[in-house]
Amino acid sequence: MTDRELVDLAFTMLERSYVPYSHFPVGAALLCADGTVFTGCNVENAAYGSTICAERTALVKAVSEGHRDDFVRLAVVGNSIDYCWPCGACRQMLYEFAPDLTVLVGRSDRDFVRLPLHELLPHGFGPKSLA
Ligand code: THU
Repeated sequence: MTDRELVDLAFTMLERSYVPYSHFPVGAALLCADGTVFTGCNVENAAYGSTICAERTALVKAVSEGHRDDFVRLAVVGNSIDYCWPCGACRQMLYEFAPDLTVLVGRSDRDFVRLPLHELLPHGFGPKSLA
């Protein structure tokens, strides 16, 4: 799957977002080495802090379906003027399973940037840090 295809798939998830509070839909698509893709959207909650981001939705879907150490690329997109940069909690959650992940970050005009998770979370704390 090309970067463009993964980003476009993430865009299709915007309509699934549940965002009555922020009105800021976010979509994500997580690609595994075998070609499987797990999609996600943000799901908000009246108790605002219980909201889950699009990237973490995709990640927990993947892990709960048995994927763990085979993530290769993630696209995250928003209807925003700026690129929809992943929040700190999402960067940390992704780092746990895929420190070498490639991340595609998109904005409303469908342009996107491609960068390694290492750049988004330098010197990250992961499983190896507990040794
Ligand atoms: N959001 C995400 O889904 N992913 C991020 O990495 C940044 C923020 C969502 C959470 C909330 O529903 C909305 O964007 C506004 O913060």
